[in-house]
Amino acid sequence: MIYKNANLNGKEMKSFAVENGRFAAFGEFSALEKQYPQAKIEDLKGRITACPFADAHIHLDYVYTASLPAKATASGTLFEAIDNWSEAKDRLTTEEIKKRAYIAVKQQIACGVQYVRTHVDVTDPKLTALKAMLELKEEVRDYMTLQIVAFPQEGFFAYKGGAELVEEALKMGADVVGGIPHFEFTREDGVASVKKGFELAMKYDKLLDFHCDETDDDQSRFVESIAALTYFNGMQGRSAASHTCAMGSYNNAYAFKMMSKFKKAGLNFIVCPTENCYLQGRYDSYPKRRGISRVDELTKNGLNVSFAQDSISDPWYPLGNGNLMHQLDFGLHLSHMMSIPEIEDSLKFVTDNGARTMCIKDYGFKCGNSANFVVLDADNTVDAVRNTSETVLSVREGREIMRKEPAKVLTSYSF
Ligand code: FE2
Repeated sequence: MIYKNANLNGKEMKSFAVENGRFAAFGEFSALEKQYPQAKIEDLKGRITACPFADAHIHLDYVYTASLPAKATASGTLFEAIDNWSEAKDRLTTEEIKKRAYIAVKQQIACGVQYVRTHVDVTDPKLTALKAMLELKEEVRDYMTLQIVAFPQEGFFAYKGGAELVEEALKMGADVVGGIPHFEFTREDGVASVKKGFELAMKYDKLLDFHCDETDDDQSRFVESIAALTYFNGMQGRSAASHTCAMGSYNNAYAFKMMSKFKKAGLNFIVCPTENCYLQGRYDSYPKRRGISRVDELTKNGLNVSFAQDSISDPWYPLGNGNLMHQLDFGLHLSHMMSIPEIEDSLKFVTDNGARTMCIKDYGFKCGNSANFVVLDADNTVDAVRNTSETVLSVREGREIMRKEPAKVLTSYSF
């Protein structure tokens, strides 16, 4: 198959050939046509052809549960949502969790997402959600690469037996060690939970991804423990700090001291724009903080930052639809990264950077890599972001897994 007139990542017009599910050649269409005379041809007409979207942080076991707890999350805060979830989760079954997760997975596939890291609540002695996600991972693998985080929602230590359940989840097949140090009882317990997380990751050869400093408390500084342990354990590139909202409240002297430490640690950062602008700032009167990490400074300091969905209609966040173009739109606004060159270079936040955090090999427009890509209904990145353009084609290992007709607008005016 030859795809011609592809605007690769909105930066370079090229044609390319796909053979046996892999990218076989890139170049001028006339040359490819001679090289592959039998190939079928699709004209992408200069539309953006990007690497598939990678959502490095979502909770697929929570999707569509916003009305499940008996009590609605009235305050809009993280901590009330955790309490409400704790009350509701006992009633869940594997089948019911999978049914809801499938709806979200299908929605994400329709939005061009092919890589997802899902945090799964393992603070449940029955590990019901984990069992559901392990089955789901196998069932969707031809359409989506699912990475599972053993996430102790109620804490490594704040939940009795939390650390043991994380370890059990890793033995059962979870790919990543999670944690939530800012939710432990004390700062000491928080640091101990990070240490325990690293101990388990080293023991079972897993990646790490902590919910980290998801608060406006400027004294919440677990990110420094994660950076230090990443560095000293030689885990550069293999660990991630999700949220880091408190970084928006740190004083500059501390924040800028940490930038070089983060760099040495090769720490990945995951920012959830809609989720955290909803959850944070809840204890502020005015001025109200916006719950966003220092995306601009982290990026300028060469750190890898991605934007992620986090929730689809759960006790933490009532909306969300899995479309990472929305996260890109919000993320750029909230981060004040709105110059034209910044927007032109922004697709990476929802594609390459997420895939890099997930340590996905075989990703990108390179001969020999799996032919995984999406086509957006736009011919330049600024228009794609401005219009939150739809994904109209998603190809995985050379196979078309989703095609969408762009909406047609019928009008009655004559001008
Ligand atoms: Fe989360």
